[in-house]
Amino acid sequence: MEHADGHEPVLVEEVLEALSPVAGGFYVDATFGRGGHAARLLQAVGTAGSVLALDRDPDAIAAGRARFAADPRLELVHADFGRLAEIVASHARGRPVRGVLLDLGVSSPQIDDPQRGFSFTKDGPLDMRMDPTRGVSAAQFVASTEERELQRVIAELGEERHARRIARALVEARNSAPITRTLQLAEIVRRAVRGYDGKHPATRTFQALRMAVNDELGQLRAALVGAFDSLAPGGRMAVISFHSLEDRIVKHFIRERSSVDPVFAGLPVIPASAQPLMREVGRKRRATEAELARNPRARSAVLRCAERIVAGGAR
Ligand SMILES: C[S@@+](CC[C@H](N)C(=O)[O-])C[C@H]1O[C@@H](n2cnc3c(N)ncnc32)[C@H](O)[C@@H]1O
Repeated sequence: MEHADGHEPVLVEEVLEALSPVAGGFYVDATFGRGGHAARLLQAVGTAGSVLALDRDPDAIAAGRARFAADPRLELVHADFGRLAEIVASHARGRPVRGVLLDLGVSSPQIDDPQRGFSFTKDGPLDMRMDPTRGVSAAQFVASTEERELQRVIAELGEERHARRIARALVEARNSAPITRTLQLAEIVRRAVRGYDGKHPATRTFQALRMAVNDELGQLRAALVGAFDSLAPGGRMAVISFHSLEDRIVKHFIRERSSVDPVFAGLPVIPASAQPLMREVGRKRRATEAELARNPRARSAVLRCAERIVAGGAR
């Protein structure tokens, strides 16, 4: 079951439980999408609370401005969450940030629109940019990246064991004609891989190219630091990831900041500057069977949450 506005938010109850939004509080939704989580946050903060929401997709911002036009508690900004700290600093107007949400990846409206180029089952231009107003499209990336680098990207970001064969096939194909369409790319990969393991053979290659074109891991690393720096003491960050590489980055970030600085670990007196900066809140959470039955997209979703426990900058 999908929402009327095209994106069913994942792990909503779990996010609310993790962030425990307080009435009157100020929260940041760094991945607005179609506003499913933001709507629930607005409900929880009541009339005196507010939400600052970011999205790098101009369509998400436009849809949000239309849907929430009458709600002055929501401020929408077209920006990358890699710039989270800067955006929050310029929009907070003294309000302490009680929580930050990052719901990573792409939204259903992005995948469902063939013109955005994310889908390997519908023909469209090979674009894949979440922000089509900037950067390099997947077609340009495939046209201009060396075979070895293509192989690395597909192997690492796609966790694809046939990366070498796929990179070779892409280079051979582009030498005879530019690769500009999604189905064209899917067919080249299908022919290069042969044999299925249940998923469409182009699944991992599409994922890898999407992550590369949008610098998803770089954005995530910057956003975690930005979220931490923006949070008030006692404020929480909740992160939903859909990919093991993302979850690993989130897990390490939280673990590192939830422990004593290793330089001082084991010493009888730990200086205040080396004390943990965060506290992990609960264990990682996944969707319930009931949610999976409604929304299969939630299958790979993992939620982690942490609370900032001291004031001051990052280590
Ligand atoms: C999974 S959807 C979020 C759905 C949202 N929570 C909802 O309830 O509708 C992810 C959204 O984050 C946006 N996004 C992904 N990476 C981003 C980044 N680096 N900066 C800003 N927005 C980003 C995407 O454009 C997409 O709209």
